[in-house]
Amino acid sequence: MRVTRSRRLESVIDAVGNTPLVRLRAVARHVPDVEVWTKLEFANPGGSVKDRPALRMILDALADGRLTRDKTLVDSTSGNTGVAYSVFGAALGIRVKLVMPSNVSQARKDIARSFGTEIVYSDPMEGSDGAIVLARELVAKEPDAYFYPDQYSNPSNWRAHYDGTGREILEALGDRLTHFVAGLGTTGTMMGCSRRLKERPGSVQCVAVEPADALHGLEGLKHLASSLVPAIYDSSVPDRIVPVSTEDGWDMADRLAREEGLHVGHSSGANVFVALSVAEEAQRAGRGGCVVTILCDRGDRYFAPTRWERQYVW
Ligand SMILES: Cc1ncc(COP(=O)(O)O)c(C=O)c1O
Repeated sequence: MRVTRSRRLESVIDAVGNTPLVRLRAVARHVPDVEVWTKLEFANPGGSVKDRPALRMILDALADGRLTRDKTLVDSTSGNTGVAYSVFGAALGIRVKLVMPSNVSQARKDIARSFGTEIVYSDPMEGSDGAIVLARELVAKEPDAYFYPDQYSNPSNWRAHYDGTGREILEALGDRLTHFVAGLGTTGTMMGCSRRLKERPGSVQCVAVEPADALHGLEGLKHLASSLVPAIYDSSVPDRIVPVSTEDGWDMADRLAREEGLHVGHSSGANVFVALSVAEEAQRAGRGGCVVTILCDRGDRYFAPTRWERQYVW
């Protein structure tokens, strides 16, 4: 067997991507004719699928001069993208400033700070929108001092998945692949992977996952009807969109830990819930198939706070 995990790398940035795929056996026991695969994006150095777009946004901006070493990268995320900016900012010698509401969990503040990231607090009553507004105000006041990646409108976001995640899925599963399932947050994963997979001859169904309700506990995912739709989103890309309840996403995340040894976050639970329902359809139709979905991050990122009703900001 080719040993890829013991590669010698020059920098942590070279450890991004080439994540393994693991086949689900226990939770997919009832669909024996359909393969259900998960791509372990939590194996990236910053612990999530957001490492790929964060690194690509930084590298593309360094390449064309939008980002220089005398600028500070500023954004309004306390979640996975913020962790990724912090990791690669430290590795590449770029200052990072994150704007987050002052009520985000201590763990999130501590993770960002441990990489040397500066945190600016926004009004807790204004939630993540307040953080976005404050980040934009900082940039408007001193435009030459900052690089603002704006992952919702930055094409480097989906291109990271087109050149990375999607290509790697094709290399691993090739012509067997029948379905790709991924959640919609910034929509970068869905846009980039689907565009890559649809270039392959033969049809791949691309299924998007979104929270069933506007008020939900599937961190990282967006309920599009009640949200600002990201500029990089193209509604013609997914073949269909499947709503998932918070409970179904959380229950599946629990099952993945207990039955597969995969302790993942709730958006990953939602992805697998939909991947299994797609697999059940294929099994009932007697077609067989090969479904792949994304495990976005690890479950230990969500230990505090534990009640999703509190609507904390990720
Ligand atoms: C945990 C988690 N799941 C899913 C997503 C959605 O991925 P994308 O932004 O590529 O749509 C994100 C994005 O922030 C995330 O942090």
